[in-house]
Amino acid sequence: MVSQEHPPSRRAIRGRILSFTDDPAVVDGEGSYGYWEDGVVVVEGGTITALGDANAILPQLPSDVEIDDHSGRLVLPGFIDTHIHYSQSRIIASYGAQLIQWLEKYTFPEEARFADPEYAAKCADFFFDELLRNGTTTAAVFCTVHESSVETFFAASERRNMCMIAGKVMMDRNAPEALLDPPGSNGAAAGFEASERLARKWHRRGRQYYAVTPRFALTSTEAQLEACKALMDAFPGAYLQTHLAEHRDEVEAVIRQFPRARNYTDVYDRAGLLGPRAIFGHGIHLDDDELRRLHQTRSVIAFAPSSNLFIGSGLFDFERTVDGAHPVRVGLASDVGAGTSFSMLRTAADAYKVMQLQGQNLTALRAFYLMTLGNARALGLENRIGTLEPGSEADIVVLDGSGIPALKQRLAACDGDLAEEIFAIMTLGDDRAVAATYIAGSLAHTAQRKTSG
Ligand code: GUN
Ligand code: ZN
Repeated sequence: MVSQEHPPSRRAIRGRILSFTDDPAVVDGEGSYGYWEDGVVVVEGGTITALGDANAILPQLPSDVEIDDHSGRLVLPGFIDTHIHYSQSRIIASYGAQLIQWLEKYTFPEEARFADPEYAAKCADFFFDELLRNGTTTAAVFCTVHESSVETFFAASERRNMCMIAGKVMMDRNAPEALLDPPGSNGAAAGFEASERLARKWHRRGRQYYAVTPRFALTSTEAQLEACKALMDAFPGAYLQTHLAEHRDEVEAVIRQFPRARNYTDVYDRAGLLGPRAIFGHGIHLDDDELRRLHQTRSVIAFAPSSNLFIGSGLFDFERTVDGAHPVRVGLASDVGAGTSFSMLRTAADAYKVMQLQGQNLTALRAFYLMTLGNARALGLENRIGTLEPGSEADIVVLDGSGIPALKQRLAACDGDLAEEIFAIMTLGDDRAVAATYIAGSLAHTAQRKTSG
């Protein structure tokens, strides 16, 4: 682990700077981003104070300002992951099961181990190191049903000063006894009370946000889903995160379990859980009525392509969901451990392939927009993170493809075409392409490059 260095009062980061101002699919071409071939980002007290050409900014800086020279490398806002499970790092790449069997065979036994706070603390440290190695600086994270798993998580993210959204998984049926919220005095109460304690302590503390986290409809009673709504009402600005219509077997089981609901989305809708801070993982198997409700309520779907492929869940129809008759807000997500990589570059590469299989295209500019400003917008955090505009919090990733031979060779053929270059980086890159990661202006990860010769 690279320990957080003491934040310098002022620092300048020099490189090839790329920062989006809008969705390249909506605002055509160069109107959607700023690019500085020899640019500088100036950071003071964790916040970006200037952005522009090196030859305009550097002469104005006092001589004692530290300059991190990444000339030739791409400098971007830190990547954002809209759906991931920190408790599943150790079951990534578990063989041969689709959603329900995968949960029973691998996920629940692993999550039961989080009853031990020491185990959870080790996993949290691994998780944050892995995010930083991959250039991810913010994520919406599922903990486990154990209250201590959330305490451990937020304590670790606070130590690293990272902007994190997380919450205690709530389950009160259809899971092993050891993972169920114990019945309180009135049914769903125990999960409610633990979540309330956690939200009171951690929501909006430093850079932390609380997410009310019912696992999915199958593992909650209606009473528990209603308790989730009460939590949302009690904590303004809190998130709701869960799973929705990921796998056909899951959808059928939900319809059987909630006979009064019109469809899967309606289960959450009836509990009052749809809204602009609600993040629904997957949303693959939805009908038009469901998309309409998600659109009307400004709810968000987290598209997790590597997970969808690995679990065999289906192909997310990006065009229909994002650009269709009822446009829904969509973020990009790794969904580790059903997802197979922490890297948002690999995630974008898989998104591209999922769309290719449906005759759709994901441009590299749109993919990089999604990983940064797009995902910040999906989380309603675009005024804080996701860009390098002055006023933003200085979470930054520096990319360098030269350590990956196939990418290095491909980049040499790009001839200065930015879109082609970043397409090669997302297609061939991974953690090896991350040269440095900054959290609130402090260096939190730097790649140890092998010197050759
Ligand atoms: N649905 C309910 N729980 C989970 C989970 O942990 N991972 C995924 N991918 N889907 C889920
Ligand atoms: Zn998930």
